[in-house]
Amino acid sequence: MSGVNEIRSTFLDFFAKNGHEPVASSPLVPRNDPTLMFTNAGMVQFKNVFTGLEKRPYVRAATSQKCVRAGGKHNDLDNVGYTARHHTFFEMLGNFSFGDYFKERAIELAWTLVTREFGLPKDRLLVTVYSEDDEAAAFWRKIAGLSDDRIIRISTSDNFWAMGDTGPCGPCSEIFFDHGEGIPGGPPGSPDEDGDRFIEIWNLVFMQYEQVSKTERITLPRPSIDTGMGLERIAAVLQGVHNNYDIDLFKALIRASVEATGVPAEGGQTASHRIIADHLRASSFLIADGVLPSNEGRGYVLRRIMRRAMRHAHLLGAADPLLHRLVPALVREMGQAYPELVRAESLITETLRLEETRFRRTLARGLGLLDEATAGLASGGRLDGETAFKLYDTYGFPLDLTQDALKARGIAVDTDGFATAMERQKAEARANWAGSGEAATETVWFAIRERVGATEFLGYETEAAEGVVTALVQDGKEVDTLPAGSTGAVILNQTPFYGESGGQVGDVGTITGPGFRLVVTDTQKKADGLFVHSVRVEEGSVAVGAAVELAVDHGRRTRIRANHSATHLLHEALRQVLGTHVAQKGSLVSPDRLRFDFSHPKPVLDEEAAEVERLANSIVLQDAPVSTRLMAVDDAIASGAMALFGEKYGDEVRVVSMGTAIEGEKAGRTYSVELCGGTHVGRTGEIGLVHIVNEGAVAAGVRRLEALTGDAARRYFADQEKLLKEIAGTLKVSVTDVADRVATLVEDRRKLERDLADARKKLAMGGGGGAADAVREIGGVRLLARVAEGVAPKDLKGLVDEGKKSLGSGVVVMVGVSEDGKAGVVVGVTDDLTSRFSAVDLVRHASEALGGKGGGGRPDMAQAGGPDGAKANDAIAAVEAALAAA
Ligand code: ALA
Repeated sequence: MSGVNEIRSTFLDFFAKNGHEPVASSPLVPRNDPTLMFTNAGMVQFKNVFTGLEKRPYVRAATSQKCVRAGGKHNDLDNVGYTARHHTFFEMLGNFSFGDYFKERAIELAWTLVTREFGLPKDRLLVTVYSEDDEAAAFWRKIAGLSDDRIIRISTSDNFWAMGDTGPCGPCSEIFFDHGEGIPGGPPGSPDEDGDRFIEIWNLVFMQYEQVSKTERITLPRPSIDTGMGLERIAAVLQGVHNNYDIDLFKALIRASVEATGVPAEGGQTASHRIIADHLRASSFLIADGVLPSNEGRGYVLRRIMRRAMRHAHLLGAADPLLHRLVPALVREMGQAYPELVRAESLITETLRLEETRFRRTLARGLGLLDEATAGLASGGRLDGETAFKLYDTYGFPLDLTQDALKARGIAVDTDGFATAMERQKAEARANWAGSGEAATETVWFAIRERVGATEFLGYETEAAEGVVTALVQDGKEVDTLPAGSTGAVILNQTPFYGESGGQVGDVGTITGPGFRLVVTDTQKKADGLFVHSVRVEEGSVAVGAAVELAVDHGRRTRIRANHSATHLLHEALRQVLGTHVAQKGSLVSPDRLRFDFSHPKPVLDEEAAEVERLANSIVLQDAPVSTRLMAVDDAIASGAMALFGEKYGDEVRVVSMGTAIEGEKAGRTYSVELCGGTHVGRTGEIGLVHIVNEGAVAAGVRRLEALTGDAARRYFADQEKLLKEIAGTLKVSVTDVADRVATLVEDRRKLERDLADARKKLAMGGGGGAADAVREIGGVRLLARVAEGVAPKDLKGLVDEGKKSLGSGVVVMVGVSEDGKAGVVVGVTDDLTSRFSAVDLVRHASEALGGKGGGGRPDMAQAGGPDGAKANDAIAAVEAALAAA
């Protein structure tokens, strides 16, 4: 008997030996198919390889694919726990040929594996083929030696496999195992084929076509092979058990549940243990692949699965949250094959614990209400839709949980009534926002939000994905298409584009589809979770319903991530250096730089900024992983996560942590923990370098800091260095001597300026030899007049005073001509003469000669200016003339 892990590796090894590339399972959230909620078959990741759209470096592959069949088109949730073979999560083993081998080799490989490697007896096996597929029937006869009565022809869709309404498809052939006469049921195609005796273990699909629309089917470029074998089923066969829940893997999980609850596996509670084991797998794998519980879309399917299991934990009498305690058992069983489980173990544990803690607050009361409402109902009865809705709305009971809770008593739920109650609530919400005075341009978003639901954000996990256009908006109105050359807004069911929030700018990139290409110029969030992509249609036109490829501008997003993580590092560094009064007051995280506003009553000193920068960079150098968890808001804040005061948070928040403090009070603890919905680097080393380039005030008590990271910081330093080298070159000294040299130059210049001013003054006063040479007499009045080149107007008054003193009695005129050619003039009249001449009158004459107007002062001292310094001598002549005329 082999364990599940051995069976999985036997399968993969067998195909590797036969020239197949072992390929890792793709994530549960499909990246390449917007129509699928979850990956539900092995071929999903190869869809475009079959159609020829995508090339891989191999033509044969084998996988063990994680699959979830819940919530979407394939929904097995309701049956899980009550049947032998339904699961929400299962593993599909498959081998694939992309235009390489076809039917014959596929049948040969399958038969060899099943009968030789797995050693199943031929007489317990039979196969089906599509009724028209004579070829497949002939190969089974030839290769397996099966008689015709063991090759059953089926004409229904059971033997024509299609991925969905569109996509690769083809006839298929299934291998069945006969669990033996002891179990009721007939062979496939017989009236009691639904019994449990003959169980399909492997489906071989002969991929030949692609369904491009409902009515059109084209031939694939080359015939291909896609197969799927449920690992749990084949394990049951190989381990000689009939029920999938009796295989080693499930036994281990159920044992953990039994040990944690003290309730035996056998007896009345078997279904609860099975449901817990199954849902533990689905929940954990979904969380590991980035899905977190929410009230819509994939997150709500996860929540339904989790809460369904949690009700069963409650049924088992678990006093405390149970599911998270079973995670170690799951990781032990499956962690080796799926390392993502190990990596996400703490996220899984915390998410499960949080959800169960929250749900337990309303679970018991909800069940009480349910008991009351159904007290008078017997088997065959029906719970009214209103109560089911109240349980949903007030107590957090997903509809299927209520149905599951009533199943054992044979009571159904009025689902129409439930839908009516739900619709009524939506109508009320509609009326509320219609009356809330939102601008008309905004109401369009609410209408779309209500119709299509919130956009699922994939951008934490991926920068490229596919999506379906759910609405288009132009000039505030919904439209069916956006034509070439136009601009508008695109709404999608899911997107990797980050919508601006929390200071982080929206993503840009491209949206493409058959015959069209849009450039996304911005992404914003509207109406509680609707991502609005502003686009310009570059080529073709886009219509509602189109399936599109979405690609975020990777380089830009990479820089944004680094800047966002650096903001967290600086925030904590500021608190450590300046004090814990530092609180975030705003931030801008753009691709080019980051800006962070924070409360602090005074300027940040240079040495403080340097210390902040050093601390932040020490965490960059740690290259520490950045981890994200989902927590209840109160728990997150109680655990010390930094939150924005006054910010509205949902009940649950993302908590981003990075680094280990190596100094200060926090030494040994996580360096930075913040509530944050933004996108971050995987490890702090990706930031490269943080450098603060500016610090200043924005408002009273609020400072702003700007910083660069990564290549922008490197370029900043490179530019600085280049500048420094240029300066050194001009100064003809080495870079290290620049500072000394500049200091000397500045000092020299100051001295020279002082000397020059002195020399000019001396020159104005006649070269130090008295003013006699410049003195003349006009009508008995002594006049001292000079043109002082390079003497500033402010220095002229001093010269005039000195002149008046040396004359004793007379008039002094000093015209200063500055370097830019403008003139200033000061006229002084000694007191004994002010009754005869006014300095104010005289300076006006001088000023007019200089092209200026007027001037001002007192009778003994007045000053003026004029634009034309070349006329300095004319100004003196004008004063002489005025004196002569007096
Ligand atoms: N794709 C096929 C299936 O899911 C093999 O059954």
